[in-house]
Amino acid sequence: MTSARFDRRPYAGAEDLRAMQDLAGRLWSPGATWHVGDLAWERFQHTGREHEWPTMLWDAGGAIAAWGWADSGHLGLVADPGRPALAGEVLDWFAATAPATAPATAPWPVRTVRVSSAETHLFPALDRHGYRRTDEGPFSLHMVMDLDDGLPVPSPAAGYRLRAVGDADVPQRVAAHRAAFHPSRVTEESYRAVRRAWPYRPDLDWVAEAPDGSAAAFCLVWLDEANLAARIEPAGTVPGHRRRGLARAVCLAALHAARRAGARRAVVSPRGDDAYPVPARLYRSLGFRECARSLGYRHPA
Ligand SMILES: CC(C)(COP(=O)(O)OP(=O)(O)OC[C@H]1O[C@@H](n2cnc3c(N)ncnc32)[C@H](O)[C@@H]1OP(=O)(O)O)[C@@H](O)C(=O)NCCC(=O)NCCS
Repeated sequence: MTSARFDRRPYAGAEDLRAMQDLAGRLWSPGATWHVGDLAWERFQHTGREHEWPTMLWDAGGAIAAWGWADSGHLGLVADPGRPALAGEVLDWFAATAPATAPATAPWPVRTVRVSSAETHLFPALDRHGYRRTDEGPFSLHMVMDLDDGLPVPSPAAGYRLRAVGDADVPQRVAAHRAAFHPSRVTEESYRAVRRAWPYRPDLDWVAEAPDGSAAAFCLVWLDEANLAARIEPAGTVPGHRRRGLARAVCLAALHAARRAGARRAVVSPRGDDAYPVPARLYRSLGFRECARSLGYRHPA
């Protein structure tokens, strides 16, 4: 299919996901919305939702230069700043696509976009297409830290053991995720799909194991080898094990593993609004600092 100036094609599976990840990696900075690991996590953490997600890729000179992913009236996008017309093409496509993805209960038609304050190249197209900044509701912080010799050594509470997970650990790893993020749609099936996705690495998927052998806390880190950048997504602690320093310990263990694997920086994007402050406190206590935040845009139509 051809749009105004660029070829475009609908998402057709794993190779296209890899092309979307390659673009996100090529344009990545610590304040970017998308790290290669986010795409793997977001695409696979739930099973059977692909049909709810119209996704389009734009090709410029044989390489993917923009993509848009619509979900429930919301758009995720990456567009090469070197080709300013592309962001507008993604928004045109979204305007035509969004109504079909809006939740039945939503005001009609809903069109929202979330970008990072660091992605200034997207602002002009959003303005031109009639989107307005909204300061309502949750937002995320984009936080970064150097992984240098100053990274604290993890010290789990007595009786807990820090270790990377293997195939046999999937049931307890998923149980911990579901408890920490209750209610959650992550299942053993979806988690196995996450583990098959590039660039998942089992040596960067850590748990704090409780004395009874269950997973009490977890931290999954994704490594972007081209940018030497690790991303925490997600981390959590089972409610009955909270406030014992376990999230701190398991995140540090996973970050040390990422450093051994070559990462020089780490990023994470917790909520930044006052309604959900604890994760940002955790990451600040580890040494992360804010470098950007998410900005919500809404189409007034
Ligand atoms: C956020 C979460 C992982 C923290 O887990 P935890 O094991 O209780 O955290 P820790 O005990 O390691 O705490 C580390 C630091 O985080 C902060 N913190 C953790 N819980 C806090 C709370 N309830 N209130 C205030 N600060 C808190 C503190 O700075 C704490 O350091 P301190 O104990 O020296 O003051 C846990 O609450 C959770 O799983 N929440 C739901 C899932 C989630 O939101 N994950 C993060 C997504 S990015």
